[in-house]
Amino acid sequence: MTRLGILLSGRGSNFQAIHRAIDRGNLSAKIACVISNIPDAPGLVYANEQGLPVFALDSKGIQRADFDRQVIAILEQSRVDLVCLAGYMRLLSKEFISAYAGRILNIHPSLLPSFPGLHAQQQAFEHGVKITGCTVHYVDEGLDTGSILAQTAVEVLAEDTEESLGARILEQEHRLYPKTIQAVISRTAWTKRSKSGSSL
Ligand code: GAR
Repeated sequence: MTRLGILLSGRGSNFQAIHRAIDRGNLSAKIACVISNIPDAPGLVYANEQGLPVFALDSKGIQRADFDRQVIAILEQSRVDLVCLAGYMRLLSKEFISAYAGRILNIHPSLLPSFPGLHAQQQAFEHGVKITGCTVHYVDEGLDTGSILAQTAVEVLAEDTEESLGARILEQEHRLYPKTIQAVISRTAWTKRSKSGSSL
């Protein structure tokens, strides 16, 4: 069974969608750990309720490489195969990327490469695009720049506010992320868990 490491910083609704997909048998994986860089992230409440292994760290004031070393240690100790960023609002260090090369996924609320970074929904709204959406991609050292795995388009309606648009995108994120994780798992033989690189 593929072991997932979930990294989050906030609400954790994508994490919940992944967990639900596993529960319903739509995603053949196991959540090996849930790690947050924000100790009181709301997403951890659900993780605790579900009895999952939770690691609440505080990234404040810690150098990126040092913090990431702590995260890597937890992922290794939890024997994680695939790292899923779910609203994890931090860039990853070189060391992290190379430790899990080709085994880190992220979901972003826009049709990348448009609107990377923070407030993607607001950026879409301000630019007046008529179609936006969400993207699941591999993670590299850039800001939402890794290669794209899957996207869903969402129409921007005339009556939309930033909130209503964001909510419709989020609904699609919850469908797209578990489905894409399953697709990645299905075509991957996790031959070994090592630092030697990608088996994707
Ligand atoms: C989601 O919209 C996710 O796509 C976005 O943060 C939100 C987290 O919500 N991620 C990014 O913007 C990453 N660049 P959640 O905590 O409810 O899953």
